[in-house]
Amino acid sequence: MQHGSVFQRSMPDSTPHSQAQSAADADMPRATDRILTGDRPTGVLHLGHYVGSLRTRVALQGRCDQTLLIADLQALTDSSGRAALVAEHAEEVALDYLAAGIDPALTDIAVQSRLPALAELTVLYLNLVTVARLERNPTVKAEVELRGFARDIPAGFLCYPVSQAADITGFRATLVPVGEDQLPMIEQTNEIVRRVNRLAGKEILPECRALLSNTPRLPGIDGRKASKSLGNAIPLSATNDEIRRMVRAMYTDPGHARASDPGRVEGHVVFAHLDALDPDVDAVAELKAHYRRGGLGDMVLKRRLEELLEALIAPMRKRRAELASDRAYVRGVLREGTARGDAITHSVLRDVRDAFSLGAPL
Ligand code: TRP
Repeated sequence: MQHGSVFQRSMPDSTPHSQAQSAADADMPRATDRILTGDRPTGVLHLGHYVGSLRTRVALQGRCDQTLLIADLQALTDSSGRAALVAEHAEEVALDYLAAGIDPALTDIAVQSRLPALAELTVLYLNLVTVARLERNPTVKAEVELRGFARDIPAGFLCYPVSQAADITGFRATLVPVGEDQLPMIEQTNEIVRRVNRLAGKEILPECRALLSNTPRLPGIDGRKASKSLGNAIPLSATNDEIRRMVRAMYTDPGHARASDPGRVEGHVVFAHLDALDPDVDAVAELKAHYRRGGLGDMVLKRRLEELLEALIAPMRKRRAELASDRAYVRGVLREGTARGDAITHSVLRDVRDAFSLGAPL
């Protein structure tokens, strides 16, 4: 892994989101930053999570204060019928974090549903947000479409950006490593922050900014969006056989029937993975040129990727297996991270209750 290369230094010009860091900023994480990110525990984590955000979090450890939130309450907003699965996966996601190199001495791992202050912050923030604003949130819109909710959107789902704002502000986070699809969440969080501060008459909450990965979102092996339900993403706990099977099945260029044919690298899933993971950038550029000219078969690329993935995932799998046999340890990590989260979220809640004139003792 190339540390220091996982941060995106500037936003593409086309993006309208001013909260993301720009090249003009001293845009690298600062020692004073507090980092919060989270994942919904609806399944085990896959390579897309790793490339999109997890390796950034590993690289940031020890440089800033960092908490990873296992967002089980958020998972329930669209998966209430799968509550048992969500509960089971809270620990699985923690195992994935630890296996990928998250060190509990440097990073707290906290469980959202065990932090009651976050729920109370959410209820207070709901008064500062309109239904129309939530319906316009591009992330919510895209997810509603994806899930086919039509007019049957659970209220909790429509409001989850407010709950996510509670997560971020509850930890006084200033930096949020997320995928680009989450930028509207950062924007909406900062709107809430400004309203709370106006209400308080002073700055009680800091605004936050996104930290984006410098690699584009990894496609699924079939070239579609990677998703747990489609089973088209490589789990971080995959065996070598699974890795091989999934790499062999990767979508390439259908017009590249023989190795001698010139090929297209755009939309080529193996190249997308090499771009995200192969440290030898020059070699990949050469392979692309060769592929375009013709004379390079897909198997050469697939073998290269298999080797890379096996080298990346094998140590994670080993560490995961060791940790999985020591559940008491994993639970202890969650308990301690959550206890520290409880303290900070309660201190934020006190300030926010004051802002709403709810501070006085009875
Ligand atoms: N919405 C995020 C996702 O689906 C998960 C999440 C929950 C999160 N709370 C968060 C991300 C707070 C960043 C900060 O991936």
